[in-house]
Amino acid sequence: MAKKTTISVIKCDVGSLAGHHVVPKPILDIGEKRLKEAQKSGIINNYYVFNAGDDLELLMVHGRGEDNPEIHKLAWDTFSEATKKATSLKLYAAGMDLLKTAFSGTVRGMGPGAAEMEIEERQSDPIVVFAADKASGGAFNYPLFRIFADPSNTAGLVIDPAMAGGFKFEVLDVKENKKVVVKCPEEMYELIALIGSPDRYTVSRVWRAKDNLICASSSTTRLSLIAGKYVGKDDPACIVRAQHGLPAVGEILAPFMHSYFVEGWMRGSHWGPLMPVGLKNSRCTAFDGPPRMVGLGFQVANGEIAHGDDGTPLISDLFDDPAFDLARRESVDQAVTLRRMGEFEPARLSTEVMEYTTIDKVLEKLKDRFKPA
Ligand code: 13P
Ligand code: 13P
Ligand code: MG
Repeated sequence: MAKKTTISVIKCDVGSLAGHHVVPKPILDIGEKRLKEAQKSGIINNYYVFNAGDDLELLMVHGRGEDNPEIHKLAWDTFSEATKKATSLKLYAAGMDLLKTAFSGTVRGMGPGAAEMEIEERQSDPIVVFAADKASGGAFNYPLFRIFADPSNTAGLVIDPAMAGGFKFEVLDVKENKKVVVKCPEEMYELIALIGSPDRYTVSRVWRAKDNLICASSSTTRLSLIAGKYVGKDDPACIVRAQHGLPAVGEILAPFMHSYFVEGWMRGSHWGPLMPVGLKNSRCTAFDGPPRMVGLGFQVANGEIAHGDDGTPLISDLFDDPAFDLARRESVDQAVTLRRMGEFEPARLSTEVMEYTTIDKVLEKLKDRFKPA
């Protein structure tokens, strides 16, 4: 059997400097230290540690497959040590996403989010990793639709015969915990009917239809459904594979030339205009936002992230680019417009989604005063 390579992005909010906006250096350093040790001991082949706002993101490349207990334990132990540090620094909401105490072989259902993809390396395998802060699990629905199903976004759907059969989307119903596979272009309208409601349906995987080649995988944690109450937003990550019969990197990035709305932002309770940013601006400031997304491009080569001679992984900070200035500008304009509406919908999320916030406690006060009308 051909050797396979696994890309794992496992993320967790272990606490932030000054509110909920950024992962400070001592926490990133713990990620770096732990993963370096794991590389030395051969658990992973190499890695890259970064942050999406207040979420610590561990990008690891290894040969152990998806949902591997050793990889998940490595992430869990890293987040646990980082939480200790965050607690000692009295960072805000230290250990916030570690919802359970005892590790049981997987981070799934424990609070951290995981996007993972096992691939058989092609001759060249360009990868894009996205990670968002102040956003919910469905934040990738819209761009994944544009990338893999919309011929007005992805020229390859029209021009490249290798993409002719279209793509299959796995959609997760996060409420019922059921999933369905929908094929585009044939079932495009049905797909939109589902994933147009990102709070209920999230795209979890995408395959090329003609040969079931895996080409996208996203984290689908619903923190509020694990905890039964508001404990922060999911802040998802997504891995996308590019080129040679798949959308080009430029087609994968094209949906982000404009801002679009995601659920999250302040207190996880508002629609917010997504702002694609470079790593240096991966900090959610204004009204804890606007929701931000970073995008990293790299190659996997022989089980590793392709790296320089000194071992430094070659990572391209994709949104650190003037081509996304318009989207950033739109995001600020739209943020200001929404904030003018204060706590009136559609600035605030719908009643149903608000059930998973702290608003119930506020309304509790009026409960006994309601009379039949
Ligand atoms: P590939 O078909 O080799 O991926 O080339 C497409 C491309 O990069 C155009 O931008
Ligand atoms: P996070 O889930 O990113 O920590 O955000 C929490 C919050 O309440 C922001 O206002
Ligand atoms: Mg966050």
